[in-house]
Amino acid sequence: MMSDAAFAEVPIAAVEAFWDASPCNIRHSGKPIGTREYFDEVERRKYFVEPHIPPFAEFERWKGKRVLEIGCGVGTATISFARAGATVTAIELSSESAALTRRRAEVFGLSDRVQVHVGNGEQLSSFLPIDTYDLVYAFGVIHHSPHPERIFDEIRKYMNAESELRLMVYSRVSYKLFWIMREENVWDMSRIDEIVARNSEAQTGCPVTYTYTPDGIRTLLKDFRVVDIAKAHIFTWDVAAYRRYEYKKDPAWAAVSDEELARLEKELGWHTLVRAVLKP
Ligand SMILES: C[S@@+](CC[C@H](N)C(=O)[O-])C[C@H]1O[C@@H](n2cnc3c(N)ncnc32)[C@H](O)[C@@H]1O
Repeated sequence: MMSDAAFAEVPIAAVEAFWDASPCNIRHSGKPIGTREYFDEVERRKYFVEPHIPPFAEFERWKGKRVLEIGCGVGTATISFARAGATVTAIELSSESAALTRRRAEVFGLSDRVQVHVGNGEQLSSFLPIDTYDLVYAFGVIHHSPHPERIFDEIRKYMNAESELRLMVYSRVSYKLFWIMREENVWDMSRIDEIVARNSEAQTGCPVTYTYTPDGIRTLLKDFRVVDIAKAHIFTWDVAAYRRYEYKKDPAWAAVSDEELARLEKELGWHTLVRAVLKP
């Protein structure tokens, strides 16, 4: 984690307000929000631009198992887990996002397998009864919370020796950092936190975005045994075209082969994917 909790003073209400105003991936489809067509398109776009998600989550593997999802957003992974046969308990700070996840479960006839609770993951046990889950999944979430370490203290209560934690946090060193520095024309490395937070999401101005080195993650996960850490995901699309739902390569990537991209993603990916279990 960077510079001793750079965002620790941000009120959780500011985080909630940001995600209520712009639920994650809300613009992944131009279809009427809340319809089947809308959700189908959101899913297609999400897994098209973030193809590393299905192999990382291994949705099918959790069939018949219990999944606790922290920060479900509009529920893309939630539905993938439920569709694959898992029972999912999802929690989400933003009530707007939670409502869309609930609606999504209804639209696909999966409400019996999906429960959504609104609340702050830093205080999970204050609103979610303690129980054991096979998988705790938090994709792109804890780095947006002012006190990520508190979420891990809570998550532990819901795991046993067989449970797995899979999470994605943003990488400290990534191609996206270079991209942001170019966009902002800021080459002052002491301002990384500030400029990354401003540009980390589709909508600017996210109040909290921590980034992590592998060592930083190990420190944060002090009560866990880290099984695997790997970087993934370089966004290679031209952003203006992407916003028009067109896929044209950014000139920086036009001449780069898929093999070379895969190699670079391991070094410079924006997503650090972590698998961990509780320490014995
Ligand atoms: C980048 S989105 C990711 C959403 C989803 N996991 C996905 O992959 O599409 C981050 C989400 O984390 C939620 N979040 C941030 N801090 C949280 C907290 N302390 N407790 C619960 N949810 C939180 C936000 O409301 C937002 O929906």
